[in-house]
Amino acid sequence: MTDRERDIRDIASLTGKEVVRLNFIRDSDHYYFRKHNRQGMRSHIFEVLALRDLLKETEGEIIDGIRRYPRAVPRYMLRILRARFTSLEQIMSEIKKYTLVLKFLGPELIAISSEFIVDYTGTGKNEIVLCGFQEYIHGAILDPWGLSAKDPLDTFFQSRFPGGKVDKKRIVTSLESIAAFVRRMRKMITESGYVTDLAGNGNLIITATGAVKLVDINNIVKVSRDDTIPLDDKGYPSCDKSIEVLFILEEKILKSRNLLTDPLYSHFLSAGRRKRAGSLERQFFENLPEWG
Ligand SMILES: Nc1ncnc2c1ncn2[C@@H]1O[C@H](COP(=O)(O)OP(=O)(O)O)[C@@H](O)[C@H]1O
Ligand SMILES: [Mg+2]
Repeated sequence: MTDRERDIRDIASLTGKEVVRLNFIRDSDHYYFRKHNRQGMRSHIFEVLALRDLLKETEGEIIDGIRRYPRAVPRYMLRILRARFTSLEQIMSEIKKYTLVLKFLGPELIAISSEFIVDYTGTGKNEIVLCGFQEYIHGAILDPWGLSAKDPLDTFFQSRFPGGKVDKKRIVTSLESIAAFVRRMRKMITESGYVTDLAGNGNLIITATGAVKLVDINNIVKVSRDDTIPLDDKGYPSCDKSIEVLFILEEKILKSRNLLTDPLYSHFLSAGRRKRAGSLERQFFENLPEWG
């Protein structure tokens, strides 16, 4: 009998070497799995690197007579979800939620993923696990909580993509992209009653050309229409905090006016509700697990 491993959905961190040993991953001579330097709470995230890119990174390549060591850019990201599913219906409904977001946001605003279900046998039992091969988004994290007050996009590009002068075209592109993002996410909230988690660290990325992309596609929560503040599966008030992120994007970046009279924001961002959401958020951070 082979050694039983600890359930990968409970382990804080997996290495690339451990990934290729998983029963549902086929080792390949062409690809290499490297643990991504950023991880979330819901998934293990791996860069899928082409071996020849990795070789250039470690041994270098000579360009114009100079040896350079270009960092290998992932061909894809592999995501292994920690979520436990007890039935196929449950897992299918999770995949359906992803297709819903794709339908509303469109492929321009989301890191496209091919979701797949595997039969994980490492613990000695048959377990269904959801994985995804996802488009890698090369860019910088848009942190809505840390935007500067005056010219947030100018400051963002100067600090995240230093060198060169202010690129007006890129700023216009990102303004349009963020406006489309907010518009489409709001349409999704109204028409489907769901919102994706926009509050988590690294969930939104802006590329060098200025396009915004949602990369965290697996935390989709129901929007509450009443006074209750819904918590997601980890106990975080994702719905309220994500709507706050939309508000911040509109207020600080898009400079929309009269936002507090907007029914969506007046409901979710009333002083009393915000206070309650804030205290639920604090409780969440106090109870974080070791890998949070
Ligand atoms: N496709 C991707 N391209 C680039 N970065 C990604 C991609 N997917 C995830 N990341 C980064 O990995 C980290 C964790 O990903 P995330 O999707 O938020 O995981 P979780 O679902 O566990 O919260 C984030 O910082 C995110 O920016
Ligand atoms: Mg996340």
